[in-house]
This record gives sequence, structure tokens and C-alpha cells, in this order.
Amino acid sequence: MRLDKYLCDAGFGTRSEVKNLIKKGRVKMASANELGQDFASMQPLKDPGWKVEEGQAIFVDGTPVHFESFSYYMLNKPEGLVTATEDKNQKTVLDLITGMKRRDLFPVGRLDKDTEGLLLITNDGQLAHRLLAPGKHVKKVYLAWVNEVLTEEEMEHFRQGLDIGDPELTKKAEIEYLERSSFAEDECYLYEVKIIEGRYHQIKRMFEALNKECLHLKRMAMGSLKLDESLAPGDFRLLSEQELDEI
Ligand code: URA
Repeated sequence: MRLDKYLCDAGFGTRSEVKNLIKKGRVKMASANELGQDFASMQPLKDPGWKVEEGQAIFVDGTPVHFESFSYYMLNKPEGLVTATEDKNQKTVLDLITGMKRRDLFPVGRLDKDTEGLLLITNDGQLAHRLLAPGKHVKKVYLAWVNEVLTEEEMEHFRQGLDIGDPELTKKAEIEYLERSSFAEDECYLYEVKIIEGRYHQIKRMFEALNKECLHLKRMAMGSLKLDESLAPGDFRLLSEQELDEI
């Protein structure tokens, strides 16, 4: 694996942060027969693209890097599955990630059982925290099929913050009308909604607060990560290097 990716995966920062560490000569390597050598006498690794091989020990400022390999999958969640790692009675999204040896994967955030779309599955707790922590304000983009059309005034309420029965109004959101549509043979209206929070049933409750019913929801993006629409519902794939860098 490339040295910069190795350090990122081990939690030493973003690609550019670890490149900086490398540039400053703070990253060194000892091969199996050199272990025991002191840090000062090791040669710094200067090439971020240098390939780390089995049996080599990498040190940052004299501290050995304990490499933990992380996995990242994008799942197009179908309707009908619960977002959990296990459930006694129901099938979970993790049941779809077949053929994987690791048992420590979990879904990042929660989609309702009847919501479909983008779900990130990983074992990287730090990344999950960065994406979910309320203070990070990571934007989530949804398509919402709604039973009635919203007036301009209602859309403005949606944007400014709504009382959905919680102690605080919802944070500013974005909403845009896309087109007339249908869901389960009912005529309805399609909206694109962007929120920066993740409260329980949030979008459904936001429409409810305006006396509308959200008939169906599909998550299209989370931060920089966009649903790969070539994935059929239930399909998953590894994130690409570029998606990982950007997220
Ligand atoms: N808002 C909802 O109401 N449900 C979801 O699954 C996601 C956002």
C-alpha cells in the first residue's frame, strides 16, 4: 500500500496532512532486520507513493504506526431492511454485505426501514464520528416524494426551521421542487431536500409539520459521497480512492 494511504488509514490525518509529515522527514521505516535501531539513525521516507511492504515497521516521530486496515463500502440500501448490525427478527443492511471476512463493520448513520439509497458501511469509527457529529454539519441530500405540493411560504418555513416537536427548531435546510411524480400509483410531487442534521425521522416529521405526507425517501448523498446510481438496490461496492480522499 502507498505510504500516504497507509498513514491516512492508520489515523495520522488527511492525505495532505500525512504528505506534510512525510515532507518534513517525520516518517521513517525499519525493515524486519533493522528493528531495534533507534529512530534518529533511520532513513526518512520522502516519497508519499512509496510502497509499504509486509514486515516493515513505519514510525512517525519515533512512534510505531499500528496499522489497522479499514474497509469502506457504499451500499444502495433497499426498502425493507433495518439499519443495524444485527437484529433478532429482521434482516439488516449488514446481511447484504456478503462475502466479507470482517465482523466489525457497521452502518454510518441510520436510514428508516422504508427509506432507500446511500448508506456507508465501514469499520472506521473516526470517520463515522466525523460524518455524524452534530457540530460537523455534514450535508445529506434526499429525494422526497410528497403527497401535496408545498406553497412558497411553506418552502420558506422548511428552509428557515420547523417545529417538529423537539426542544429546538430544525436547523436551516434546503428544499427545491423538482417535478410531478408518482409513488405506488399515487400521484405526488418530487422534492430535493438537503439537511445538516440527522434527527429521528427528520424529513418525514418536517413535512408532517406542514401537514404533508412524505410518501417515500431516497438518500442521494452524504457530504462529498454521492450514490452510485449504477448500483441496484441491495448492491454494494468498495469506495474508490478518490471518494475516500474526498470524504
Ligand atoms: N429522514 C427521515 O425521515 N427518514 C430517513 O430515513 C432519513 C431522513
